[in-house]
Amino acid sequence: MVALTGAGISVESGIPAFRGAQGLWDRFDPMEYATIEAFSADPEKVWRMFSTLLSLLLAAVPNRAHLGLAKLEQAERLRSVITQNVDGLHQAAGSRNVIEYHGNIRELVCLSCWKRFPLAGWSPGDSVPRCECNEILKPDLVLFGEPIPWGAQAAAEAEAKACGALLVIGTSAQVFPACDLPAIARAHGAVVIEINTEETPLTRTTTDLFLKGQASEIMSELVEAMR
Ligand code: OAD
Repeated sequence: MVALTGAGISVESGIPAFRGAQGLWDRFDPMEYATIEAFSADPEKVWRMFSTLLSLLLAAVPNRAHLGLAKLEQAERLRSVITQNVDGLHQAAGSRNVIEYHGNIRELVCLSCWKRFPLAGWSPGDSVPRCECNEILKPDLVLFGEPIPWGAQAAAEAEAKACGALLVIGTSAQVFPACDLPAIARAHGAVVIEINTEETPLTRTTTDLFLKGQASEIMSELVEAMR
């Protein structure tokens, strides 16, 4: 198996999803705050959104769904996790083969001289972090309008094509190109198993088995059943 995860897997760790009531995109219009053009035009404004996001992410710990995926990897039942999340909770849970499709928050990058710095020196409430060249740094996550990191995109596609089953957990499957991975997997013979509290555009088109419910509950049952 291979897993494809989205914001829904981290909801029970206290990180609200992007879409839906109380989602981050309810508080910050993504077209105003989450595009590379918005960051280039007014990085201090976009850092208001980053600060809110980082405060939530830095306080979170893995839940039973993250831990379940790590257990399945240790038991050699799961080969990798492709995640759209930037929170690092899969690695914190013990997953080793994690493909970060939308980047991560461990590093800050300068879009002028491409130097990188660890986020570790920055805390919520601090002023916006700057490079030695004085440019405002950007967390190394993918904003709308930025390409998917090449290595992650290639690795994710290869995993989707090679797996026997794709576990799709907690994603609304609305953001391209990640939303295409389940169809790629299915076209190459995989069974698509979807875990979500609600139906998504995949459920009636691509999903073979829809397991409705909270990711932590379903993953705990799945790990127990596979034991
Ligand atoms: P969304 O916020 O779009 O979707 C979250 C999904 O998780 C929804 O389908 C919910 O029904 C489901 N969900 C919520 N709580 C759940 C729970 N406890 N258990 C299981 N499912 C649950 O998040 P993503 O699909 O990850 O991109 O969003 C994709 C991308 O859009 C993000 O990576 C981000 C965002 O814009 C960038 O920032 C580039």
